[in-house]
Amino acid sequence: SDKSWGECLSVAVEVARRAGKVVQEAVKHEKSVSSKSTPTDLVTETDQQVEELIISTLRERFPSHRYIGEESSAAGEKCILTDNPTWIIDPIDGTCNFVHSFPMVAVSIGFAVKKELEFGVIYHCFDGTLYTARKGHGAFCNGARIQVSKEKDVSKALILTEIGAKRDPATLNIFSGNIMKLLSAPAHGVRIIGSSTLALCLIATGAAEAYYQFGLHCWDIAAAAVIIREAGGVVIDTSGGPLDLMSRRVVAAGTLEMANYIVQNLESISYERDDSD
Ligand code: IPD
Repeated sequence: SDKSWGECLSVAVEVARRAGKVVQEAVKHEKSVSSKSTPTDLVTETDQQVEELIISTLRERFPSHRYIGEESSAAGEKCILTDNPTWIIDPIDGTCNFVHSFPMVAVSIGFAVKKELEFGVIYHCFDGTLYTARKGHGAFCNGARIQVSKEKDVSKALILTEIGAKRDPATLNIFSGNIMKLLSAPAHGVRIIGSSTLALCLIATGAAEAYYQFGLHCWDIAAAAVIIREAGGVVIDTSGGPLDLMSRRVVAAGTLEMANYIVQNLESISYERDDSD
């Protein structure tokens, strides 16, 4: 029932704070780093420990729910969204930042039922900022209502993106071509902060006008999509169609006009879907 998702949200907030504090403490110590899909797709022991902490805590409370986690997926678990209540978890978003102690690192917990996103919680591990939203109930930063920017004109926009793990010359050409096109629009600026979820939270608070990325994962967008939508923004596919959580691509913006401008000016980079086998 609607009531029980509210209870799930409270538990999510509690767990995100606890996990975030573990990450904050771990930043001070030496990290054991390895790579996953590519040499720049990083993982540390802390990613795995924190995911285990989050999932075991939630599973104890909600044993019948399903769990999709970044590190469980890396370990071979299938990443498939069913109609069952499903938690979608990134224990450390911004692992590369974490490794360098660059202060943009977050815990992200999203929750979907019948393939619809119901709520999202994102905890900024360095400054303790908490972003939350529940479908139909608004979006909040540390408990205060947040709102997207209403700007429609790209020449007044600050645009955020992320690089993604593929670094072959063809991919990098498209990547920089997309940035050059937006810079010559001319957008006010383009920023890359190293955490998809925190970049998306900055769209939700109106600190930037648009975000796009190829190569992110469902756990990078699940929680943030609810937060942006509840802050009045749009989250769509880079084709202009509805968001597909598993498609590894997204455009988010404060207004549909801004989102459509980005859509029309992007060249695609293809990544294997999260739910492919
Ligand atoms: C990654 C970061 C990075 C983005 C990647 C994400 P992770 O998440 O958000 O900035 O470019 O697409 O997967 O691996 O640090 O959780």
